[in-house]
Amino acid sequence: MLRVKEIRIDGLKQATGTAGCPHISWILESDRRNVVQKAYRLEVAEAVSGKCCYDSGWVESAESAYIRWEASLISQTKYAVQVQVRDEAEESPVSEKAYFVTGICSAQEWKAAFISAETPEDKENSKGTYVRKQIHAEEEIESAYVSTTALGMYRFYINGRKVGEDELAPGWTSYHKHLCYQTYEVTEYLRQGENMLGAMLGAGWYKGKMGFLHLRNNYGEQTAFLLQMVIRYKSGREELIVTDESWQGCDAPVLFSEIYDGEIYDARREIDGWNEPLVMAEEACEDWHEVQCVTYAKEVLTAQAGCRVKKMEEFPVKEVLITPQGDTVLDFGQNLTGWVEFETEAEAGEEIVLQCFETLDADGNVYTANLRTARQTIRYICNGKKVVYHPHFTFQGFQYVKIVRWPGGADKAALSKGSFRAYALYSDMEQTGTFLCSNELVNQLQHNILWGLKGNFVDIPTDCPQRDERVGWTGDAQIFCRTACYLMNTDMFFTKWLADVAADQTSEGGVPHVVPDIISGKEHNDWLLSQGTHSAAAWADVAVINPWTMYLVYGDKEILKKQYESMKKWILFMKNHAVDNIWNYKLQFGDWVALDAEEGSYFGATPNDLTCTAYYAYSTGLFAKIAGILGHTEDEAEFAALHEQIVKKFQKTFFTEAGTMTAQTQTAHIIALYFKLVPEQYREQTAKRLTELLAERGGHLVTGFVGTPYFCHALSQNGYVKEAYELLLKEDFPSWLYQVKMGATTVWEHWDGKKPDGTMWSPDMNSFNHYAYGAVGDWLYRVVLGIEADEKEPGYRHAIVKPQTGDAFTYAKGAFQSVYGELAVSWEKQVGQTEQAMRAEWEKQERQSDIVKLQVRVPVNTHATIILEPGAEVVNGKELLFTRVNDQYQAECGSGEWVVKYRKKNS
Ligand code: BGC
Repeated sequence: MLRVKEIRIDGLKQATGTAGCPHISWILESDRRNVVQKAYRLEVAEAVSGKCCYDSGWVESAESAYIRWEASLISQTKYAVQVQVRDEAEESPVSEKAYFVTGICSAQEWKAAFISAETPEDKENSKGTYVRKQIHAEEEIESAYVSTTALGMYRFYINGRKVGEDELAPGWTSYHKHLCYQTYEVTEYLRQGENMLGAMLGAGWYKGKMGFLHLRNNYGEQTAFLLQMVIRYKSGREELIVTDESWQGCDAPVLFSEIYDGEIYDARREIDGWNEPLVMAEEACEDWHEVQCVTYAKEVLTAQAGCRVKKMEEFPVKEVLITPQGDTVLDFGQNLTGWVEFETEAEAGEEIVLQCFETLDADGNVYTANLRTARQTIRYICNGKKVVYHPHFTFQGFQYVKIVRWPGGADKAALSKGSFRAYALYSDMEQTGTFLCSNELVNQLQHNILWGLKGNFVDIPTDCPQRDERVGWTGDAQIFCRTACYLMNTDMFFTKWLADVAADQTSEGGVPHVVPDIISGKEHNDWLLSQGTHSAAAWADVAVINPWTMYLVYGDKEILKKQYESMKKWILFMKNHAVDNIWNYKLQFGDWVALDAEEGSYFGATPNDLTCTAYYAYSTGLFAKIAGILGHTEDEAEFAALHEQIVKKFQKTFFTEAGTMTAQTQTAHIIALYFKLVPEQYREQTAKRLTELLAERGGHLVTGFVGTPYFCHALSQNGYVKEAYELLLKEDFPSWLYQVKMGATTVWEHWDGKKPDGTMWSPDMNSFNHYAYGAVGDWLYRVVLGIEADEKEPGYRHAIVKPQTGDAFTYAKGAFQSVYGELAVSWEKQVGQTEQAMRAEWEKQERQSDIVKLQVRVPVNTHATIILEPGAEVVNGKELLFTRVNDQYQAECGSGEWVVKYRKKNS
């Protein structure tokens, strides 16, 4: 039977607050194989009245993703979507309904004003404030929707109940260009009669101290709240409620709250029932005062229909430790980004002080030096009542919490470990990728990579979540993008952030080192940023590489269209600053934090001219391809020609006549190979030289941000699969598994964050939650599992499945939830009957079977090419028809489950 299993709206299971008509995709299911959709019918109706507003009729089309349609929709209204499809054999039933709610469809419809309980004199404050208004709903309510945002951060309540699950809203954007607002369905929150609307505001990224210069007021000096609510009564009447000068404001119990330093909360200052309806309107306490209206352009308001930061996972205390220095420390067992929550019932005036931190030092004592100036401290003053508290307008990067002060003594806290919890906060994205193999250390590495993502995808992709930085470093987001796209549905996350990459580009097209850009235009007197705040190779290339990667993995052309001008501007920036096709510019990070750097330096040994020009070539090549995809044929021809010239120049400059690279570093060889910059006749010798450079270091990598992501690829793509596995599986320093063996639960910034003797790398830059080196995840999925995208049919419409099983694992399995459904791949070396027996046998014999059983599940309406390892012979292909292309067997298949057994070469 053919059926529509799930509908995705703007890529989400549920979209609340869309900007106009969302795009629609659906996942199909069938018990038959090779199913291809022939036609679909899409209907959209108002959810409450059932009134149809769009009916595509039967459309003869195989498209089932990113269907765009047009209808005139009403703002702040709920709609229901239904889909029906047919293939050659049958017609599906009409799907279940999926719902979305529109945001405010045009800027002119905003009637609300930003209101502030602060005055310009509060510019040095990072306190919390309340704003509120009591409203009267005269009649029986049929539906109600609210759209809210803030300058600063906000939490919104109706009748004492927090609306929605979002935290740290409205997130961080280049606020003067894009300010996200959130929409909620609030029918259930309101009642006929009196209702209290209230919001608590904090400084957030908008106003609090941020960045290297620790400047405050990066976007403005006053927090402010914006609300527009529509109440639709059963009578058919409609009422609009907006923020305006009729609201009241006052100080909240949050005395201080900032991203880096944490929060101070005086519970004695809580106002009972501040956000609940007053019995008598006059009852208002004297603390409440008038609010000020703050002018802010409504044109920058951007609908955020999903992918908002939420409380995602909860962790109990794993262990309570007393350190050698006598501190009481809670260990949550996972390095995470979020909050510590506690319960208490201490007497009014008693204080609780908690400091969050990432790691213990070699002696087992509290280590906070790597936080630099970030205090990451929560100070709570009790009010004598039983409370559960977590901070409001801040987040911490931590695994441990030091109990600095606790009513009755810090050690008492140890007795009630049940009263503490940690919550991970990050952007709400569906996990799309899984990976499991026979090596437990690699499985832990996969876990660490995933948690590197979770810890740093907190509305924007940050470098780290703990020290006084936490900014959107473009390079980190670029090198980790492909891994991130596999692990989680980052489509909406990156789409939002890339809009700011474009918005924050310089007029010349330069791309800032961090986005949102809070560093440009400021007086930097430090050794690094005084040299430049934008346009570093590998960092700025995020402008091209990320949209391209998203296109490959998610398959929607729209991201290329949206970012086209931004990409082009970036390529032209490089072109304009290149001299005879060699590009370099001001501050370059090069192969950042590579181990071949000079003692004490962060800059790896690979010369900047080389890394810059390699990236110039790579991005220009991608851009030419993108121009072609979008039908910009002139650009395609122009930039393809430019790409060719850069490659030629690269080859002439960085290869000797004998084909030796002028820079004898691992990274130089890696990027030359991976970016296809090696003259064909020297390809083999360059790859071989890379293995020698590896051997010279005892099989260890010494690469930084530029070389590391592609190291395993550069080896496996050139016939060195065994060496790539060996590199991945190195367990001693420096290596990925070294960190794992040192107890890491996330990915470290430095290979030697903690040295083998337990001492730490310099505290000034030593994050234990930095996803960049987690970019190796990409190799696990694309090579170990062999799940490759095809740029001609992106989004895994056509998947290329070609695992390289190596010698080291007995099995590997994983899946990717594509826009069409789950693409699953698993392989095992056939020794015993069951996996257990197989592993035992494996250990006993210390050898590997030469028979591999490969299973592939291909989603409906997609197809795949299964390519066996070079030299492999098919033992049993069942229904698959294998043909030999060069020395590799390959078979085409449609949707469904497929199994092949093959014999590996030379084993
Ligand atoms: C960040 C990095 C970043 C780098 C660039 C560091 O402070 O944490 O991840 O890319 O600076 O220089």
